[in-house]
Amino acid sequence: MDWGLKNRLSRIIRPDGKTVMLAVDHGYFLGPTSGLEDVGRTVKPLLPYADALMPTRGIVRTSIDAGTATPIVLRVSGGNSILSELSNEGITVAMEDAVRMNVSAVALSIYVGSPNEKQTLLNLAKLVDEGHRYGIPVLAVTAVGKDMARDARYLALCCRIAAEIGAHFVKTYYCEGFERIVRTCPVPVVMAGGKKLPEPEALELTYNAIKRGASGVDMGRNIFQSDDPVAMIQAVRAVVHEKATPTQALDLYRSLKRKGKARKKPGAKGVTASREELSRH
Ligand code: 5RP
Repeated sequence: MDWGLKNRLSRIIRPDGKTVMLAVDHGYFLGPTSGLEDVGRTVKPLLPYADALMPTRGIVRTSIDAGTATPIVLRVSGGNSILSELSNEGITVAMEDAVRMNVSAVALSIYVGSPNEKQTLLNLAKLVDEGHRYGIPVLAVTAVGKDMARDARYLALCCRIAAEIGAHFVKTYYCEGFERIVRTCPVPVVMAGGKKLPEPEALELTYNAIKRGASGVDMGRNIFQSDDPVAMIQAVRAVVHEKATPTQALDLYRSLKRKGKARKKPGAKGVTASREELSRH
């Protein structure tokens, strides 16, 4: 790996080998997703707790503070919408523009087994070539078409193909046998959050993925659609970076949520989890 590419990737996957990425790219095919109607406003209080942010370029330029220290993993595939065939994606951002935005990585979806499998895999190949030219790592997202089973056999196939084409890290869904996906994939595997779950279940999911070898999460709805997104991202961090159990993380979430409510009262202080607080849970 070239030094620049390695350096960028190390900003996303932290020295402990783990990352908490915040996905806010849903609008690229879903439009104004619940919780992301005003992305800038949603993201601002969460940014200090995210190891990386995954938006589209339109959102970067309109809604994200250019002074942020949080690395950007830029969504660069699209061309589809919820109203059409989801797998019909192309590359939507020139690598030159990604470099101009100083992104730390680019992300695109592959749709293995879909009518557009070849097109999306060739998109990935092209992006990897350009990524190497400019020193930008590529994240392959194993998007799941409507008819595909989310089992370990299928997802291991997708992740392995992505890595063979040259993706530097991959994002896939959690499933039974997740450890098999990680074992057979030569690059880091990050778990996608998926649809909104009650907080205890989302923390359990995170814990299971980490226990089975995930290099972290790239989570969207389970954070920004939470009753308390700022508390939830810190609870997810506790699982990913501090080895918290689901029970400890849930206790932390509830305690931060209580404090968050108190903070909203006039004259109250800010709320973040300290190391001491994590160790108490
Ligand atoms: C879509 C994506 C999204 O970033 C992904 O769905 C993550 O968000 P969520 O945790 O809400 O599923 O890659 O293909």
